[in-house]
Amino acid sequence: MMLTGQAKLAGVMGWPISHSRSPMLHAYWLNEYGIDAAYLPFSVDPASLEVALRALPALGIAGTNLTVPHKEAALEICDHVDEAARHIGAVNTVVVQSDGSLFGSNTDAFGFIENLKAESSWQANNGPAVILGAGGAARAVVSALVAEGVAEIRIANRTFERARALADAFGSACQPLNWSDTSESFRQSALLVNTTTLGMTGQPRLNLPLDTLPITAVVNDIVYAPLETDLLKVAAMRGNPVVDGLGMLLHQARPGFAAWFGREPDVTSGLRKHILAGLIA
Ligand code: ATR
Repeated sequence: MMLTGQAKLAGVMGWPISHSRSPMLHAYWLNEYGIDAAYLPFSVDPASLEVALRALPALGIAGTNLTVPHKEAALEICDHVDEAARHIGAVNTVVVQSDGSLFGSNTDAFGFIENLKAESSWQANNGPAVILGAGGAARAVVSALVAEGVAEIRIANRTFERARALADAFGSACQPLNWSDTSESFRQSALLVNTTTLGMTGQPRLNLPLDTLPITAVVNDIVYAPLETDLLKVAAMRGNPVVDGLGMLLHQARPGFAAWFGREPDVTSGLRKHILAGLIA
């Protein structure tokens, strides 16, 4: 699309940034809606993050997404942050306010839950949820499930201490588990979410027997490369409803796009196809 002198600007800061799918995603929407705007990849080293964020108002840039390794540091830099960002301990979306101050939010929890609801018939009162992993992605998932009112959230992690820290941070609905107890924890559950890096291209496989998992439980892998992980393959084969990881990536981008460019974007099958083609390329 041609840009005019009035083009709105936003982008994503990361280090490195070349792997980010966000520019492709926002460009698709900008083109689809004919918006005079650009979304740029900014390669920002950690030592320069504060200077880069503070430069946004001076440059007339409407805001930015943040990716690895900036999400935690941005929480300290922003002038205001929303509740989700504070709970998760990370900011992934910054919106420049009219007075030049920086408003930080975290849209990962929103992206996770919107995708889960769009792609399955899961409801918070269906039963316990099992979360595999206790890193940053797990924090966003647990925060979303707590906000939805899930009564029992079982968190299994290779390093038990991290599972306990996460459970402690999110209250009495959460129980930490040893990794070796994962299969037992599947019993009576209504949702299984993998937030570990296991199953990702280049990482070890996630080798968990699903025999103890109710056939009605929704299985959601937030890994999206490959799109159909071994976990999802095995789950689908035994008849569980499955949700892949691409949707969370697409849905988490919606609030930033709406704030910077003034239009609520839609997650469509056309968008999914476009991003998938980019992932394979
Ligand atoms: P992110 O912020 O993207 O969630 P992370 O903080 O590095 O990433 O977390 C990765 C998760 O995958 C962690 O839960 C990690 O377990 P540990 O806390 O024990 O490190 C999990 N993970 C990574 N490799 C694993 C492996 N080989 N077996 C089991 N869990 C693994």
